[in-house]
Amino acid sequence: MEDFDELDLETITPRQVREYLKDKYVIVASNRGPVEFRRDAGGGIKAFRGAGGVVTAMSTALTATDAVWISTARTREDAIMTREATGGRMAMPPDRPQYWVRFIVPEKNDYHQYYNVISNSLLWPLQHYLFDVVRRPVIDDTVHHAWSGGYRKVNRLFAEEIIKEIRSTDKKALVFLQDYHLYLCAHYIRRREPDVLIHHFTHSPWVQPDYFRLLPLSMRRELLQGMLATDVLGFHTHHYVNNFLQCCREGEAVRATVDSKRRIIRFGQRETFVRHYPISIDHEALEKTASRSDVAAYREMLRLLAGDRKLMVRVDRIEPSKNILRGLQAYERFLACHPEWRERVVFVNVLYPSREDLREYRDLRREIEETADTINREFSTLEWDPVVLSIEDNYPRSVAALMEFEVLLVNPVIDGMNLVCKEGAVLNRRDGVILLSVGAGAYHELRGAVIPLNPLDVSETAHCIWKALEMGERKRKAMARLAREVVKKNTSFLWFLQQMRALRKVERLRAAVGTSPGPQVELPRYERFD
Ligand code: G6P
Repeated sequence: MEDFDELDLETITPRQVREYLKDKYVIVASNRGPVEFRRDAGGGIKAFRGAGGVVTAMSTALTATDAVWISTARTREDAIMTREATGGRMAMPPDRPQYWVRFIVPEKNDYHQYYNVISNSLLWPLQHYLFDVVRRPVIDDTVHHAWSGGYRKVNRLFAEEIIKEIRSTDKKALVFLQDYHLYLCAHYIRRREPDVLIHHFTHSPWVQPDYFRLLPLSMRRELLQGMLATDVLGFHTHHYVNNFLQCCREGEAVRATVDSKRRIIRFGQRETFVRHYPISIDHEALEKTASRSDVAAYREMLRLLAGDRKLMVRVDRIEPSKNILRGLQAYERFLACHPEWRERVVFVNVLYPSREDLREYRDLRREIEETADTINREFSTLEWDPVVLSIEDNYPRSVAALMEFEVLLVNPVIDGMNLVCKEGAVLNRRDGVILLSVGAGAYHELRGAVIPLNPLDVSETAHCIWKALEMGERKRKAMARLAREVVKKNTSFLWFLQQMRALRKVERLRAAVGTSPGPQVELPRYERFD
């Protein structure tokens, strides 16, 4: 058998990966899974693709593995399917099974506390520097209760399900935890499975210590202890790795030893490696989707809508960090400053409803609709509406928009990576120009292939829109080619392989030392949590 450690990750084939994984069992856990079941118009239960970056990257990474993916049931139909599935597992995709999907079904209120109160109202805005510190968040008893009663509880549920999976087979388990929903999970697994290999990947930014300190000490402590129960922690960029190392080094929340040079943190008897691998996309799978007839139909609709006008596009979840309102304001400013462009461009906002249980997200949606209306009232003519909003969960429609844009606006205030710009770079058929916020993790890779913008500066963004629309063909072609090349060099498969290799390295090191740290190592009392 070929030695996995010797293989070049750039050229490795799915067959070689399958060969390496013959005696391994890959367990992925994330809050949102690759599939969501809902009723279709005819009342039947249908599988829909889960939204967001984690799903985009992970689902394609798993094609070469025999894996199980554990996530929460998000709809009534998810729970029904779980009850009906043999052994609670469903093969995915149903027409060409590649891996198993399994749902955990938390109590409704526990889920609300874990997902809405802690994950989306506390951790997400914390990690995106999005606290409105004058007013929000107010961390009161409700929040503390949500932490102990919801966040811990659902993390424990995940851990139990993962432990069951680990024990269901003789193969060696490799556990891949995803994102801010599951920071405590490794701690719970570790207590009962001291030797299992655990990788955790954070898909959002990681903040600097001063900002991290806005979280109460007890929460910071648990969160870091949970993360330091893993073997490897992955982030998108070098910058986030440094921030994380600094948060551990400041010594208040955990007493850990940080080796910044080797990027290793020693906590108790355990060493955790902290690494960065920028996540990417599966361009081959995207191309397949791009050739589907429903995508072709949406492309035609878009072209009809634009006529001989230029098409400016954005594709995003309705999410504060995506900065949709300033995108519209910048476009308004552009139309005001450049009357010569009126009736020559249409701005199509392809948006996904998101986290609508939270008032902030519902308010944002309303504001987006109002702002779009205002712009249309101000500039519309008989033949032209400058802004089109399309708000629905519709993947083929997004793919079509990314194929057709002349300008793509990606202006997040801050974003862990941002896969829309990467998808746009490979899908686009018109040598379109990408306007990219310097606050997106992807900017580090795409510099030179995009027009950079400061996400808060609407005057600059308006000017960038103008620059993109006026750009000559040669320059557009060159930038689009470079963007395509940069993105194609990195794939979601490679991203996943890098994580497997990191775990493999830990396994080898442990074998060499001949010991494995375990729960027999007593942590100081304050460092324990239930
Ligand atoms: C981001 C997060 C994911 C999350 C996705 C969609 O990409 O990193 O963990 O799944 O947004 O958010 P939602 O709350 O709808 O799952």
